[in-house]
Amino acid sequence: MATTVERTSLPQIQQTECFIGGQWVPAASGKTFSTVNPATEEVLAEVAEGDAEDVEQAVRAARDAFEEGEWSRMDARDRGRLMHKLCDLMEAEADDLTLLETLDNGKPIRDARAADLPLTVDCLRYYAGYADKIHGQTIPIRGDYFTYTRREPVGVAGQIIPWNFPMLMTAWKWGPALAAGCTIVMKPAEQTPLTCLRMARLAQKAGFPDGVINVVPGYGPTAGAAIVKHPDVDKVAFTGEYKTAQIIMRDAAETLKRLTFELGGKSPNVIFADADIDAAIAGTHFGLYFNQGQCCCAGSRVFVEDSIHDRFVERLADLNRSRKLGNPLDTATEQGPQVDQAQFEKILHYIEVGKNEGATCVTGGNRFGDKGYFVEPTMFTDVQDDMAIATDEIFGPVLSVLRFKDVDELVERANRTTYGLAAAVWTRDVGKAHRLAAQIKAGTVWVNCYDVFDAAAPFGGFKMSGMGRELGEKGLDAYTETKTVTVSLA
Ligand code: NAI
Ligand code: MG
Repeated sequence: MATTVERTSLPQIQQTECFIGGQWVPAASGKTFSTVNPATEEVLAEVAEGDAEDVEQAVRAARDAFEEGEWSRMDARDRGRLMHKLCDLMEAEADDLTLLETLDNGKPIRDARAADLPLTVDCLRYYAGYADKIHGQTIPIRGDYFTYTRREPVGVAGQIIPWNFPMLMTAWKWGPALAAGCTIVMKPAEQTPLTCLRMARLAQKAGFPDGVINVVPGYGPTAGAAIVKHPDVDKVAFTGEYKTAQIIMRDAAETLKRLTFELGGKSPNVIFADADIDAAIAGTHFGLYFNQGQCCCAGSRVFVEDSIHDRFVERLADLNRSRKLGNPLDTATEQGPQVDQAQFEKILHYIEVGKNEGATCVTGGNRFGDKGYFVEPTMFTDVQDDMAIATDEIFGPVLSVLRFKDVDELVERANRTTYGLAAAVWTRDVGKAHRLAAQIKAGTVWVNCYDVFDAAAPFGGFKMSGMGRELGEKGLDAYTETKTVTVSLA
């Protein structure tokens, strides 16, 4: 296969400051932090390190824009048009945006082009269409009254996102918030602030009024916590680790803030002997190794029916061995580095734990190369349910294979986790597929496919995988308050 390494020169990194009230400003403290290219370990840019003081300014700007600005008087349909305009500008700058995403995050450029950018634009356009379709109801109540509901924007939305899909997570947060008429204070992840800042620049260019979108780059315990604690932030939407969500919940208690969480998982991916094996192998491989295994919904507990176990493992191992790791700017590269040193070390630690626990490391198990945070596609077999590699979210290219014989036992084992984000079932038996889809406790169940996402389909977790849903019509719930108006007709 011919390989092309395109545009190894940096795109101009124009936005490195805080975006507050329509102005690009340094952090009030004057501090900056480095954002690093994980493929080379080189610093890409110095970015403003916002903290409580910058959040204070951003919340004020967002509040003003919400209460009395142009935004609050704008027709809903015009809000939708602005969102489409932002999408047009993103499509025009697709090359820069995807290159920035690859440099900052390490993901292969072909994934940034095939998945991240198109899904981001699709999400924003989906919600742009909702802007003028957020209706209340008329409700017949007892007595001589006329009762109706209004769905009003919740107000200033604080949004805190992780680094695994920086552009896409920005869209999942901005889309429903803007459609509902909220204003935004966003904190991108400290590992990957660049594309969110570029999107803010494009929103400014599209004509969003000042203060509607504010972006404060910085760290979680400072900038992030300041957003959560601020009394004038009405709602916080967070994606990241459950332990961070626990801190956020405590910090939000004082102001009883509305919270939505999209957290991690240890998702079961169940392969029955009667499945289309070729499809199941390809889907299982994709379902775990896509995005370097850095997916909240990664199918990391692979339950394989006993009778096909050995054949399945052998063929999956072949796929792992032929996976192309390397320079993410090479269009043939399938797997790039992990996002940073902390994640890289966490993953290598779990690989050691897996080996010590007595699981068999069939492929990978090591760092790849000697520069950049690359980890070989790793697969363990002989994994027992209570091993750490079967219970903990590793968030890297590490797959655990577990055997099963009996369906009832399988359901109980699949559900024996504190998480409940996603699951998949591979079988040709329609009845079995639907039965399991109902029995598995997870927010999303894929049947004979994996990682099928769509802006219209709600996504979120059962149990410790989250609270509330994002995407789809449901995703608007978190950004609206329902007001009941009752009029006496007497
Ligand atoms: P994290 O949850 O600490 O970070 C996510 C976001 O929360 C970042 O923007 C961070 O700055 C912010 N944050 C951190 N502490 C905060 C606080 N006290 N208050 C407000 N905001 C705060 O996740 P991290 O440390 O990047 O990754 C650790 C693990 O979390 C990963 O190994 C993975 O297991 C999981 N994770 C899950 C993700 C998902 O999509 N569900 C995404 C990223 C990480
Ligand atoms: Mg953290």
